[in-house]
Amino acid sequence: MRLISRLPGSLRVQLVSWIVIPLIIIAAINLWVSWNTSEKMADLVTDRMLTASARAIGEATAASGNTLDAIVPPVAIEMFSTGDGDHVYYSVATSDHQLLTGYPDLPAPPVLKDFDPVYFYGSYRNQPVRLVALRHPIVAASAELSQSVDVIVGVTLAGHTNIARGLWLDSVSQQLVLIAFAAALSLLGLRYGLRPLMKLRDNVLRRGRDLEPFDQAAVQTELQPLVAALNQYMDRVRKQMAAQRRFIQNAAHQLRTPIATLTTQASFALRTKDKDEQAEVLTSIKTSAMLLARLAAQLLTLSRAEPGSRRPRADRVDLIEAGQLVLESLAGKAFDRRIDLGFEASTAAAIVTGDGTMLREMIVNLVDNALTYTPEGGSVTLGIARDGDLIHLTVEDTGPGIPENEREHVFERFYRIAGVKADGSGLGLAIVREVTEGAEGTVTLSEARTGGLLVTVTLPANSTIANQPA
Ligand SMILES: Nc1ncnc2c1ncn2[C@@H]1O[C@H](COP(=O)(O)OP(=O)(O)OP(=O)(O)O)[C@@H](O)[C@H]1O
Ligand SMILES: [Mg+2]
Repeated sequence: MRLISRLPGSLRVQLVSWIVIPLIIIAAINLWVSWNTSEKMADLVTDRMLTASARAIGEATAASGNTLDAIVPPVAIEMFSTGDGDHVYYSVATSDHQLLTGYPDLPAPPVLKDFDPVYFYGSYRNQPVRLVALRHPIVAASAELSQSVDVIVGVTLAGHTNIARGLWLDSVSQQLVLIAFAAALSLLGLRYGLRPLMKLRDNVLRRGRDLEPFDQAAVQTELQPLVAALNQYMDRVRKQMAAQRRFIQNAAHQLRTPIATLTTQASFALRTKDKDEQAEVLTSIKTSAMLLARLAAQLLTLSRAEPGSRRPRADRVDLIEAGQLVLESLAGKAFDRRIDLGFEASTAAAIVTGDGTMLREMIVNLVDNALTYTPEGGSVTLGIARDGDLIHLTVEDTGPGIPENEREHVFERFYRIAGVKADGSGLGLAIVREVTEGAEGTVTLSEARTGGLLVTVTLPANSTIANQPA
């Protein structure tokens, strides 16, 4: 059965095989059974003829006085001339084994009981023969003289084989016709049976880019789950496409504002003759260009962090090392904003499995937010701790924090809390969430002891590498 399900490609071939292979097995068993039956039939016919012949010989044997006269009537031999060229052998002997007539060394029967015929196979003159032996009573004038003779008649097997073969071949041809008929019918049935499936396929192909659901009630019961699954899938694709569209619209909108500003600034720089003013405008142009570059970088990072956008990576990433690198890269910004940027690690190594670049981007965004939204003179601390199989990365600041009712929204793409003055596009925390979920972790926002924001990212520690405690 495994063999059938392993057959490649065509469902039609599989289904036909399910019908034809068992049919062939059944037919094979049947042919064997019918060969045995044909043999038995041939035995029966041959045995009847042998008995008739032996009885005729027995009847023709008569007692005259003390002696027995065995005469073989021609009919006893002629009944075997069926055109198969068989040889007939016989012998008539007294009950004390004295041969009266016939062939002297015919194979002896097993045991003769009463007057019942005994049938057996034997070999005579190097040919297999079927034989009968029977004891026939000879009635004489006086009871003392009544005795019996043992008659044996044997015949070669050409006729027997022809009968068996003829019967068997009849049966074979009938079965072959039946199998062919069944196969043709099942093919026809399949053709009609598979029609709804083909129709569904054509419908799907004809759809093109249309993602409207199929009418589930219009298909056969067995196909309804398939159509339901197809509809669910299309629904997911539709939602995803809508999200993509929204994302592109938002991105375009975000890009339009700084580009418009750039254009205005450039026009102004071209108009003014004043060198100082020109230098000032060029500085703002540079700032706008940098904002634009950052927005483009954030968009790129977000699209890379999305599931399925690139091959998932399973780097061994040491969060302590990554954290240190991030702090070094942001030290300038901390200095400019007079913020005390600190690092606290309570474990010697914090190895997690994930995409190294993306994990670093995540830390950059968290520390960058803290440095951006904490007023000058405040402090920002990056912490890394280990708790069993989990690694907690925290970023704590002394800024205004995020009100509870905003905590879920700030993870949405392009979402910014109303009234924030700092530049930004609202993508940072969306990136953080995508990256954490990609590494099978979680991120939560809460209030720090200092009143600012505490962001906690929890990731599973790499189980294959020992993360020793400090
Ligand atoms: N540490 C923080 N303290 C206070 N508010 C924060 C902090 N981090 C984020 N926020 C708020 O959450 C909003 C969303 O942050 P997010 O990092 O997603 O976007 P952004 O910083 O505005 O822009 P981007 O990071 O893409 O340049 C921010 O606009 C800010 O209002
Ligand atoms: Mg940000």
